[in-house]
Amino acid sequence: MDEIMAPFLDVRDLSIAFSSRAGDLSIVERSSFQLAKGEVLGLVGESGCGKSVTALSLMRLLPQTARVSNGSIRLGGTDLLSMSERAFNRIRGRRIGMIFQEPMSSLNPVQTVGWQIMEPLRVHLGLSRAQARERAIELLERVRVPAAASRLAAYPHELSGGLRQRVMIAIAISCEPELLIADEPTTALDVTIQAQMIDLLVELQKSSGMSVVIITHDLGVVADFANKVAVMYTGRIVETGPVGAFFDRPVHPYTQALIASLPDPENPDRKLSTIEGTVPRPLLLPPGCRFAPRCGFRRPVCETILPDLWDVGSDQAAACLKPFDYEIPDPHD
Ligand SMILES: Nc1ncnc2c1ncn2[C@@H]1O[C@H](COP(=O)(O)OP(=O)(O)OP(=O)(O)O)[C@@H](O)[C@H]1O
Ligand SMILES: [Mg+2]
Repeated sequence: MDEIMAPFLDVRDLSIAFSSRAGDLSIVERSSFQLAKGEVLGLVGESGCGKSVTALSLMRLLPQTARVSNGSIRLGGTDLLSMSERAFNRIRGRRIGMIFQEPMSSLNPVQTVGWQIMEPLRVHLGLSRAQARERAIELLERVRVPAAASRLAAYPHELSGGLRQRVMIAIAISCEPELLIADEPTTALDVTIQAQMIDLLVELQKSSGMSVVIITHDLGVVADFANKVAVMYTGRIVETGPVGAFFDRPVHPYTQALIASLPDPENPDRKLSTIEGTVPRPLLLPPGCRFAPRCGFRRPVCETILPDLWDVGSDQAAACLKPFDYEIPDPHD
């Protein structure tokens, strides 16, 4: 493929397995998504569907018990999975920044905030101590930490949740990454601070032109921030497309159910629809479509055929037979 035309981030057929006493558990299966420079992808789906595991694989930070069992991850044409750990260390934190879902576990409790912001600047950008200190203060100011200079000596536990989250953002953007992965960057915060944090991320993305993968349960964040959306269900991407189509013309019944469960601002009293049933456990996955047991459009074929992510036009793709009248589409059409 012509590398100039290739997407900036290209995840293809990514599968991730955890080893367990019962054998390998497939947690992410043949997941594919692409992102151009400056694009923002919203990755959504119910708790446990594999969003964080996918994000961690992009940073090559999967837990020891997990491994990528199939597929490729390319950034700017370079295969991230096959490079040595040493080579990848020059990418992690520099070309790819990450805001982790658990701020306390990703900040080091025994190092000051200043040290944690300055370290990547010194390692990746070769800044002197004085230069790194100056840049650390600028970064804290950029993420609107009040009295920035005086926070450098603080330890993470001395800061409020909101400030810790800002410090994590400062670290993630410190080396001006080309790709930022933000895994539920606002979950632990109260609603007002959540909104401020998302505004801040939107502003940082606009001014830097970085690409972003934002993982969130909040479809309002998707609407405000993302250009594209990928919907995951039980470790598989079931729909991808532009953000407008996601809200206006969702194709997969699971996506439709997610959208239907949103409160309607013009009709706030409307009864919210909830999705019946529960997400199946990894060892108890149904043989056909994973969503079939909960799907109102289910036909017998859905219980035997596991759908691929098929092109449904208008840049949308969905892993569902319904748009094809329940016949497997011909890949050459
Ligand atoms: N260290 C681990 N060992 C075994 N299984 C794990 C481990 N970490 C995650 N899993 C399993 O992998 C699946 C996906 O987890 P993941 O954390 O990616 O979900 P998620 O979509 O990020 O959920 P949430 O929205 O709650 O953050 C879950 O079924 C989870 O139980
Ligand atoms: Mg998660």
